[in-house]
Amino acid sequence: MIIRPLESFNASIKVPGDKSISHRYALLGGSAEGDTLIHNYSSSRDCHSTLSCLEQLGVEVIRKGTEIRIRGRGLDHWSSPCEDLDAGNSGTTIRLLSGLLAGRPFQSTITGDDSLSARPMLRIIEPLEKMGAEITSRESGLPPLTITGGRLKPLTYELPVASAQVKSCVLLAGLSAAGKTSVIDNVPTRDHTERALPLFGVPVSSKGGIISVTGPAKLKGTEVTVPGDMSSAVFFMAAAMLIPGSRLTVEGVGVNPSRSALLQLLKEGGSDISEESFQSGGSEPCCSLNVSYCPRLFKAFPSIIRGSLIPNLIDEIPILAVIGAHLDRGLTVRDASELRKKESDRIHAVVSKMKTLGIGIEELEDGFYIT
Ligand code: S3P
Repeated sequence: MIIRPLESFNASIKVPGDKSISHRYALLGGSAEGDTLIHNYSSSRDCHSTLSCLEQLGVEVIRKGTEIRIRGRGLDHWSSPCEDLDAGNSGTTIRLLSGLLAGRPFQSTITGDDSLSARPMLRIIEPLEKMGAEITSRESGLPPLTITGGRLKPLTYELPVASAQVKSCVLLAGLSAAGKTSVIDNVPTRDHTERALPLFGVPVSSKGGIISVTGPAKLKGTEVTVPGDMSSAVFFMAAAMLIPGSRLTVEGVGVNPSRSALLQLLKEGGSDISEESFQSGGSEPCCSLNVSYCPRLFKAFPSIIRGSLIPNLIDEIPILAVIGAHLDRGLTVRDASELRKKESDRIHAVVSKMKTLGIGIEELEDGFYIT
């Protein structure tokens, strides 16, 4: 394949539905009583792994392109799967689904591909065992996970790692516990689960970084629309900002503040970005973004990114590195060692690909430094 750089472009695009939100709407729809209709469901294989796991648990799912109907009958109607549940490559599927399975009175095993089988699960095993589930895994908490669920005790749990997947896993297990389950989220992470639960009839309280649900909870099916995926949009936005003469509109993108730290940094760094309101369903803010080529950015963008900002742009760091290569003062990213525990070691992958392209970049244990 030969790729020739664009000289400039003027385009309007739509990106697929947000992955994180699609997983949550599917899992909550599958746990609810009554139909859930999801518009603009993510076309990614990960989100389809979540749907297939629900089917293996006896939930009826009707797929029509990006429109998904889930004929929920409530968590009590989930049945023990005949075969292992296959989460494929999806960390969100295995971690969130484990939270729901911990409260089901049967045994199930969740597996995944080679990459998922090398990802750390002790972070969810520990709180779920404290709640009363029995979980076996391979050595050091690696998948497959075999979960024997049942009656759960509520838990107050301080997250040892800033992870929305762990937070969501504990909150979803809390739906089956008798009483109040709380998660203490000292470094804020994406809050899609907290926003989604009330749409399915489950109140969530969130104050000063403590997020609580009270179980046992009954969920009701609903109709929801998934906004476009910010993590996909930023690749095209970066192209428009970096290629002279370019303009781009991305329609209907989710701009949840817990996901849009990169957007915020780009705006503060002087980029030419404007937002137009866009009607979405549900409780996720959504807008169309207009972006243009912006030479100011090369001088004004911060030269170091670290600390509590990292979880709110964790999936955008690879494209941030590409932006960093254009900045007059270069770019340093720190406190991002979680990137090494994703589907691949994203720090090493970014650094080695950038080096191949001739860019001056140094690998750090928890990030990188681009000259
Ligand atoms: C996700 C949370 C993040 C993110 C992943 C999706 C989610 O992972 O990197 O792509 O949907 O909750 P962690 O919770 O491991 O940080």
